Amino acid sequence: MPNTIFQDCEETQICNGSILIEGMRFPAHLYAPKTIHSALAYNARADDIFIVTMPRSGTTWMQTIVYALLNNGQGFDENLDDFIARNPFLEMHGSNVVEAMPRPGAIKTHLVFEHIPYHPNAKYICVVRNPKDVCVSFFRFIISLSPEAAKNSSFDCLFEQFLAGQTGHADYFDYLFSCWEHRDDPNVLFVLYEDMKANIRSSIIRVAQFLNIDLNKKLLERTVLVTQFDYLKQNRFNERIIDSEPSTTIEFVRKGIVGDWRTVLSDEQSRRLDAHFYEKTRDIPGLNTLWHGYNVFNSCT
Ligand code: A3P
Repeated sequence: MPNTIFQDCEETQICNGSILIEGMRFPAHLYAPKTIHSALAYNARADDIFIVTMPRSGTTWMQTIVYALLNNGQGFDENLDDFIARNPFLEMHGSNVVEAMPRPGAIKTHLVFEHIPYHPNAKYICVVRNPKDVCVSFFRFIISLSPEAAKNSSFDCLFEQFLAGQTGHADYFDYLFSCWEHRDDPNVLFVLYEDMKANIRSSIIRVAQFLNIDLNKKLLERTVLVTQFDYLKQNRFNERIIDSEPSTTIEFVRKGIVGDWRTVLSDEQSRRLDAHFYEKTRDIPGLNTLWHGYNVFNSCT
């Protein structure tokens, strides 16, 4: 096969810079096959809280919210080492780190729901975001990784990969469908990034109820304060968190708005993504109207 290098590693294939495991593709410069396998084999515990997302959907924001709620309103910056220790990244850090994490804490994962270690009493917070903003945010993230990545990446190319479900990790719709399928499970909380933007207080209340946290007004307001975009930016979240992940330029906190896709997608790309979304979701009532009210799918509403 031209331009393709296959390299067997136990049950793992590495192809064009991606580690292929269980239908997911992990960027080989960020992940190690052994660690991914250990993550998949992790024995979930009853007191686990998982934050489940496709990258660029609001993972970091949800991590800071859960951390503040579990720690009496503490911001990530008040004890950075503690924040990092209580927020392990399952497939990047592996099962040993998760087993040894201080609790309570929350486990970040970009595994697709059916591959996430399961325990009936563990809690799973799924955050989903509209595909247009995810696609654009993903592109910004990739070009922030290195000057070389910036030079060699084009949005048009990334857009085609996104439509084909071939960007890193998994197809956007694998995340969306699998989280949607579990949205009514008692141990699953299904959250929209756009709803968090529209009403952060009611989103925090939902998270607190789900985690059985006694939320008074003071804790609510403190959580709003230490997790809002400006707070994270002003306290240099991106720069201070990088020690825990193998890149020096990741923009976890970048622009933080709904509709940034308008500045990047052409009209044609927007229409194609509209059509793709409706094609994929048209037989799934509720899912096909999930972003109604957020002015995302212009041409099909
Ligand atoms: P943008 O790139 O559109 O700005 P993840 O943490 O899953 O990688 O998601 C990153 C996205 O969430 C980025 O989107 C980032 O700016 C946004 N984000 C992070 N913290 C946020 C906050 N407190 N409020 C709103 N958006 C936030």
